[in-house]
Amino acid sequence: MSDSNDPNHPEADAAQNRPSDAARQTTRPFGNSQRAVAAVGQGTWKIEDRDESAAIDALRKGLDLGLTHIDTAEMYGSGAAERIVGKAIAGRRDEVFLVSKVLPSNASERGTRKACEATLARLGTDHLDCYLLHWRGRYALADTVAGFERLQKEGKILAWGVSNFDVADLDEVTAVAGAAPCCNQVLYHIEERAIEHGVLPWCAAHGTALVAYTPLGQSTAPFDGRTKPSRVLLDIAAAYGATPRQVALRFLLEAPEVFVIPKAANPQHLVENAGAAELVLSSADRQRLAAAFPRGPRRTLPML
Ligand SMILES: NC(=O)c1ccc[n+]([C@@H]2O[C@H](COP(=O)([O-])OP(=O)(O)OC[C@H]3O[C@@H](n4cnc5c(N)ncnc54)[C@H](OP(=O)(O)O)[C@@H]3O)[C@@H](O)[C@H]2O)c1
Repeated sequence: MSDSNDPNHPEADAAQNRPSDAARQTTRPFGNSQRAVAAVGQGTWKIEDRDESAAIDALRKGLDLGLTHIDTAEMYGSGAAERIVGKAIAGRRDEVFLVSKVLPSNASERGTRKACEATLARLGTDHLDCYLLHWRGRYALADTVAGFERLQKEGKILAWGVSNFDVADLDEVTAVAGAAPCCNQVLYHIEERAIEHGVLPWCAAHGTALVAYTPLGQSTAPFDGRTKPSRVLLDIAAAYGATPRQVALRFLLEAPEVFVIPKAANPQHLVENAGAAELVLSSADRQRLAAAFPRGPRRTLPML
């Protein structure tokens, strides 16, 4: 491991060596919104697959645990997830940083506004804290941004952002809007670190929050102790009295612009995920993890 302690080692980058005051906070500034938002939030993709009352209870338990950043989308269950979120946050709207997304197929200027109004009705609220373009589609970014800006003027959204945008898309939307998006939501987990090459530095430079979706990855391999990298993760977790998933989430949060939105229906999973916010990894352990789960070469933005 001597190489990874060398400040010239490629993994010893700015994010890893940054003073971790911001990283210690369970809330952090959400991009240029100036809002303090929970670093660990709750995803809602497929929450409608299970019993509705269990899904509502899980979201409320998450709020009790401080997982107050809720991510949803008109796409999820064709509106069913938003309806469940609406029921879960009823009477608790003020606690929540609420994010939803417009489908690219709806993202004309008029379509964006119409989709947002339907989303607000399903969520039972009069505003979103941030509204995202789910991914780039056939409509010109200028049209979507015009829709966002109109919604913002009307107080229906407090900020807007994007999802699944690579560096060139981020440059383009910033040029179109005359300001950087509030956030970019992208695929990011300990086994999928490609965004660290370009997208994360771009977000850091432009005051854009980077929201990591699928932050626990799509496989249990990092957590099963069967491979060498997994054993490193388990070893580090044991040293902190933490779980491997807490360490894996915390690893992503070391850069102060990052937020994670794991989806958990199981209450024990919620408790575990909430615990990741308070963990503080040493620089040596971050470097061990970075070496065990290398970021690999630069490539086009991965997405689900
Ligand atoms: N913008 C986009 O294009 C995009 C794409 C994908 C996802 N997203 C957003 O990101 C959110 C998270 O991504 P995701 O749902 O794909 O994946 P994820 O959060 O990485 O993983 C969810 C899965 O992990 C399980 N899980 C959660 N916490 C756990 C824990 N502590 N221990 C063991 N298992 C645990 C969940 O089980 P239980 O449910 O049984 O607890 C669920 O099966 C989505 O829900 C959605 O809001 C956005």
